[in-house]
Amino acid sequence: MSILDDVLKTIDDRRHASVAALSELLAIPSVSAKPDHKPHSLRAATWLADQLKFAGLEVSVMPTPGNPIVVAKNKHVAGRKTVLFYGHYDVQPPEPLDQWITGAFDPTVRKDDQGFDAIFARGAADDKGQVWANIEAVMAWQAHSGLPVNLTMLIEGEEEIGSENLEAFLTQHARALRADICVIHDTEQFARGSPAITYGLRGLVYEEIFLTGPSHDLHSGIFGGAVPNPSNVLCEILASLHDADGRVNIPGFYDDVRALNTSERAGYAALPFDEAKWARDLSIPHGSGEAGFSTLERTWARPTLDINGITAGYQGIGAKTVIASQASAKVSMRLVPNQDPQKIRASFEQTVRDRLPDNVTVRFQNHGLAPAVLIPMDSTPTRLAAEALRIGFGTTPTFIRGGGSIPVVGLFKRILDIDSLLIGFGLPDDRVHSPKEKFDLDSLHKGARTAAILYELLGTKWA
Ligand code: BES
Ligand code: MN
Ligand code: MN
Repeated sequence: MSILDDVLKTIDDRRHASVAALSELLAIPSVSAKPDHKPHSLRAATWLADQLKFAGLEVSVMPTPGNPIVVAKNKHVAGRKTVLFYGHYDVQPPEPLDQWITGAFDPTVRKDDQGFDAIFARGAADDKGQVWANIEAVMAWQAHSGLPVNLTMLIEGEEEIGSENLEAFLTQHARALRADICVIHDTEQFARGSPAITYGLRGLVYEEIFLTGPSHDLHSGIFGGAVPNPSNVLCEILASLHDADGRVNIPGFYDDVRALNTSERAGYAALPFDEAKWARDLSIPHGSGEAGFSTLERTWARPTLDINGITAGYQGIGAKTVIASQASAKVSMRLVPNQDPQKIRASFEQTVRDRLPDNVTVRFQNHGLAPAVLIPMDSTPTRLAAEALRIGFGTTPTFIRGGGSIPVVGLFKRILDIDSLLIGFGLPDDRVHSPKEKFDLDSLHKGARTAAILYELLGTKWA
């Protein structure tokens, strides 16, 4: 038996213990969007650090102006390839709480809608469960010969709020973080039974708009019709942000967009994407969006704009006749390659100002900027990642793009000059960012095996 066989056997033997350990991490509400949850973030970081120390790595929990970053290393040996593993321990807010069957931070193993075993909790798939799959692989290697590569792990706590403090951290620690490749498990498989390598992600510009009209709330009968109503104005502006063809109506928005070429379009069209099932799972008769593009094109390769939250007027139970002094909205824009986040942010703000009446004022707050990324598919590490997935999942992986954003991928390229391997173990029905998030237990297990195999391949087959 090779060492890898022993490593894989250790992973298999730990199948149950692994879920129990992951549950401990999932029970910690490390919600980065909520400043008062900071102590929980520190607890999650410390929990991870303890596990990695136990595996024999040298670990530090590094403070930032926000949540701490966990950095762990094995003993680096000259001449070996260095892998930088990235993951995030922070999670999205769990609300609306009443839509969870079991508590968001009360991790529970049960069957999902399709009858497969899964662990349900906020962060199960995004990203604690996927991070845990890799840590299982690391622990198993460390229990035998030790890892066959130089490994640096970086697990942060602010990905879900835009990785604001990461740029300064990477710049400051660029030497210590030097690596040949980055490995990330924070994306999805194409479908159950169809593992994937993600070679592109969309970027993000996330802006909150605050409108103010009169200095205080007013009786809507005494004043209505004679004063600017920020709630009305907000709705008009938001409604103006798309045209009838579903295109984003911001001047210059599409200027730098890299057009899809015919072979990309043919490639996406050839994928076995079940559009009817997709819509059925969402309880909608059909999808909608920018005219002239398919669902995969719309989510993978076209820029979009979506309202992610609106606050305007009286939100309590029953009627209240009032013109609220303020109204606000959270708006996210997904970007594609070549679009410049700063430029899009500036044109968004200018557009809102241009459409604002002169008796209402506006203030903006940015919640995230990330460029879109495309990763070369013809590299040796990508080929080895495909091979690891093929062995780990027992079937050849598909190359896909993802509609979500991971700011660190652009930062690693720019600051450390390294590419990322996006090897996702999530499933499209994991409900990430939604109530009833889950992670498939079989994906956890196969993910851990794949991660272990990938370390072997990067250590031995990459000259
Ligand atoms: N893991 C997701 C990103 C993702 C999910 C990429 C599925 C591809 C497929 C990540 O945690 C995420 O949600 N990122 C945020 C970005 C951020 C800057 C707030 C996002 O995409 O909304
Ligand atoms: Mn994630
Ligand atoms: Mn996320």
